Amino acid sequence: MSTNTVDIPKKVTTATVARMKQAGEKIAMITAYDYTMASLVDASGMDLVLVGDSAANVMAGYPTTLPITLDQMIYHAKCVTAGVSRAMVIVDLPFGSYQGDSLRALESAVRVLKESGAAAVKIEGGREIRESVERILSAGIPVMAHLGLTPQSVNKFGGYGIRAREEAEAERLIADARMLDQLGCFAMVLEKVPAALAARVAREVSMPVIGIGAGPDVDGQVLVLQDMLGMNKGFRPKFLRQYADLSSAIDNALKQYIADVKAVDFPSEAESY
Ligand code: KIV
Repeated sequence: MSTNTVDIPKKVTTATVARMKQAGEKIAMITAYDYTMASLVDASGMDLVLVGDSAANVMAGYPTTLPITLDQMIYHAKCVTAGVSRAMVIVDLPFGSYQGDSLRALESAVRVLKESGAAAVKIEGGREIRESVERILSAGIPVMAHLGLTPQSVNKFGGYGIRAREEAEAERLIADARMLDQLGCFAMVLEKVPAALAARVAREVSMPVIGIGAGPDVDGQVLVLQDMLGMNKGFRPKFLRQYADLSSAIDNALKQYIADVKAVDFPSEAESY
């Protein structure tokens, strides 16, 4: 595999990420849920921005991703697209908006694209959501798949542990990945699976595979923005690399502000009219 850099003139598209996989250039993806952060993310040169249903945890403080609604996802997606001009924006369809009813899945995906201006949707699952994937794709809406640990199934799994360690689950995952690739998904997230399995999937499918807790031998990586910025002190899984300690920076700034207000040091004359 070569390691050329793909020239991205103005806007990242499904064609861009396909070319990146062919060229062996790794794809960088991050989540965002609001305008301010999305603007910073886009200015950084990020390839893909995911409006993840992790908004349920990060923005709303829910213990799982299950409660977030389609309307809430569309609200977050609108805020993000307002701040992004170069990266491709992908939006998670939330729990209950696409499973078991492909027409409902299509309606949900159409609403996301029409109302938010995002370019694609992401949905969790394999063969059990095949009809929904086909129907969404048939409307010309790009679909990013998501296999491995699929957090909307936390109650089925009984937690957020590593998936597909056993051969039977690994074989099922490989078969699902092949199926989703053949259906025409433009990319796939592979979450919390053994690195060797992820590498095999990335080799065997033509769509780019974006890993989170899936080792280095995939086509790209994704992290939750607030986690990698160190804004969530209690969350330190093995796969997470923290690139900043914003919790401490924010805490220091707020404490300094409180002290300045109490001491009537703020506002100064220069900060007054
Ligand atoms: O919702 C989310 O943030 C995700 C990523 C972890 C891939 O699905």
